[in-house]
Amino acid sequence: MILLTGVTGKTGGATAQALLGTGLPLRVIVRSEEKAAALKAAGVELVVGDLGDQAVLDRALAGADRALLIAPNGEHQLDYEKKFVDAAVKAGVRHLVKMSSIEASPTTKNPIAQIHYASEQYIEKSGLAWTFMKPSFFMQNFLANAGTIKEQNKFFLPMGDGQAAMVDCRDIGAATAAVLAGAGHEGRRYELTGPEVLTFHDAAARISDALGRKVDYVNVPMDAYRQTLARFLTNEWHLNAVLALFGEIAATRDAHTTRTVQQLAGRAPTSLRDFIAQFKAVFTA
Ligand SMILES: NC(=O)c1ccc[n+]([C@@H]2O[C@H](COP(=O)([O-])OP(=O)(O)OC[C@H]3O[C@@H](n4cnc5c(N)ncnc54)[C@H](OP(=O)(O)O)[C@@H]3O)[C@@H](O)[C@H]2O)c1
Repeated sequence: MILLTGVTGKTGGATAQALLGTGLPLRVIVRSEEKAAALKAAGVELVVGDLGDQAVLDRALAGADRALLIAPNGEHQLDYEKKFVDAAVKAGVRHLVKMSSIEASPTTKNPIAQIHYASEQYIEKSGLAWTFMKPSFFMQNFLANAGTIKEQNKFFLPMGDGQAAMVDCRDIGAATAAVLAGAGHEGRRYELTGPEVLTFHDAAARISDALGRKVDYVNVPMDAYRQTLARFLTNEWHLNAVLALFGEIAATRDAHTTRTVQQLAGRAPTSLRDFIAQFKAVFTA
């Protein structure tokens, strides 16, 4: 039995989709039965409840030999993750796969990556066999810019000339499913990237190419971007954490690609051009 979390989100959803075809027994923790109706119809066992609820964790992890931990970003993320790890140890889970981040390292200054790194360390000390999935900036993040791309042929971000090897969450899901369904991945950290290192100016060029019209990246000073983002992110901790993360990306000049998606998923990672072309309707008025 494989227990999955975060399946109504981007990376967990993609992992669940990729696992459905394997025929392996799957169980998921979801907060909304309605959102997981398609998974239920496909034969997935639902445990409805909150990741922070001990009884939910115990019920969900009973008899699971593998588990995928995806916790939402927020100031309580590390508490959620530690609680899940403790429950997995208690339940006798054999292999824990954690969705982390390529930025999670001992030197990171941004709180989200610091939490991921602290959680990785906690898992390493837990005695569980583990694998850390460490994706780069998600291509799906551009879906949040679809409104201005559609209306003004522009997107506004504070990334300066920073770089990222942007990756498609569907590739993250395929790679994570391969780890959960396969063998020999214990003790491995898998950095997951797309096929190219891109600045956000390069990204604008790929988006323009895919959409067949010119789209510009407008670099926004961090203070101005804070005011925009504050309209959507009302939690102060989360707002500061995302701005710190974006500041770190803006300062990145040494991003790199890996072959991990190809090696684990057995297919080339999606390019940003192809990703945007596949979602063309979202970016087109
Ligand atoms: N965005 C990036 O570019 C990026 C890059 C590298 C790494 N990451 C990391 O990737 C990880 C996964 O991100 P994602 O974008 O796949 O997540 P997401 O789309 O935001 O989804 C979060 C999932 O967690 C569930 N959830 C939230 N609170 C919960 C709770 N209290 N109890 C149970 N389930 C709960 C959500 O369920 P509901 O549907 O009920 O809300 C949803 O299924 C994050 O930790 C992030 O730091 C992100």
